[in-house]
Amino acid sequence: MPSAPLALSTCSDQTVCVIGAGYVGLTTAVGLAEDGRQVRLLEIDEARLQLLREGRAPIHEPGLDEVLTRVLRAGHLEVVQDITEGMAGAGIAITAVGTPPTVDGEADLRQVERALAQATEAAGEGAVVVIKSTVPPGTTARLAAGRRRGHGTPPLVMCPEFLREGTALEDLRRPARLVVGGDDRQACARVAELFSRGGTPTHITDSTSAELVKYGSNSFLALKISFINELAQLCEATGADIESVADGIGADPRIGRGFLNAGLGYGGSCFPKDVRALENVAAYHGPSFWMLQAAIDVNAQQRRRFVGKVASALGGAVEDSRIAVLGLAFKPGTDDMRQAASIDIIRYLADLGAVVTATDPVAIERATPLLPGIAMLADPYACVTGADAVVIVTEWAEFRGLDWDRVGRLASRRLVVDGRNCLDGRELARLGYTYVSVGRRSQTPD
Ligand code: UDX
Repeated sequence: MPSAPLALSTCSDQTVCVIGAGYVGLTTAVGLAEDGRQVRLLEIDEARLQLLREGRAPIHEPGLDEVLTRVLRAGHLEVVQDITEGMAGAGIAITAVGTPPTVDGEADLRQVERALAQATEAAGEGAVVVIKSTVPPGTTARLAAGRRRGHGTPPLVMCPEFLREGTALEDLRRPARLVVGGDDRQACARVAELFSRGGTPTHITDSTSAELVKYGSNSFLALKISFINELAQLCEATGADIESVADGIGADPRIGRGFLNAGLGYGGSCFPKDVRALENVAAYHGPSFWMLQAAIDVNAQQRRRFVGKVASALGGAVEDSRIAVLGLAFKPGTDDMRQAASIDIIRYLADLGAVVTATDPVAIERATPLLPGIAMLADPYACVTGADAVVIVTEWAEFRGLDWDRVGRLASRRLVVDGRNCLDGRELARLGYTYVSVGRRSQTPD
């Protein structure tokens, strides 16, 4: 006997239910609570639920723990496990669950579909349901069409997120722009009002266009990265300096300097997944999107090229060389290891017979099970002791701040191979190092 339908309580946009406590859902819930909304964060994973209730974020995101504790204490955020409790009185429900890639690179939508069905079932009168998860173009329209029609079915709105790991809270507090897509203009306006922060440029459109903005934005940024990495190859062949080239190109306001940092290419939970998903969508609909495959190929090759650079810096003698890898996380500011360059690079080096040690300010715990047999040392000075080469894989500020003369005394050789062009080669040369980087001339001891 189905349970009696929930009494249709009046809903208010002052109350928001966020479904999924990953870095998008958790940051969104905490940011909205900080903004004074009454937020219920729905999480089904027991371990994660316990951590959250203790005010501890299950992910490393600068500043998140402090704000999470504050909004829990203020009663603006509640962590719940039951959708009915989460949706009671909520004017807006936000699904921020994962859309991991399937084996052939398509987005797995099962979590989204389940969350949508639950939210729709529990929604009160006048509620709006938002998809914030990254879903292929056409998904929101298809899901909206497939739902039970009739009175009380909440409108569906697509509102892509543009949060960067490591700066997610800031990106939520000061969004560069908002994109909201759906066929119910009033529902879109309500969602825009929820996320707008003092006149944020807002684009209200249809849901499919909003979905494509998300894929297009990430893919274009990935293209910029692969472009500058290809240009770095040309710099190495011609003796140009990729940092100067990037500065010159980026000075054009039509291009912008951002995402023109040559190095080991992109990783993380979004770019690799979104670029491949967009390529899949394009292939399905027919138009070829050759540039995406090129970006993917360049990115994969960048890691192999870098290992070759390390090998040649060692004179080809990688076997039995001791190599200290500084940086494991896919980028600074996070402990996220998804598609991190360090995984491929360390595996390649180990396959060539190198003895690898590694360090990272926050990602060692997540990296350890991914790299069995690799010595992980929290102390970077212990990590570099006896090293024939020190290799920079993640551009943590902590590594720039090391006492590099002390590093040189601890290492067996003063050789640095900088995969992120984040150190000062001339300064290192003055300290007696040979400094090799990407797209720039090597620096040798004076
Ligand atoms: C990205 C998008 O920026 C964000 O808008 C979206 O919501 C999620 O995906 P994120 O993956 O957290 O955010 O990190 P980002 O700072 O974009 O870097 C992505 C990858 O590109 C990292 O591996 C980074 O090392 C690499 N990168 C970035 C470069 O190699 N060169 C650059 O110039 C910039």
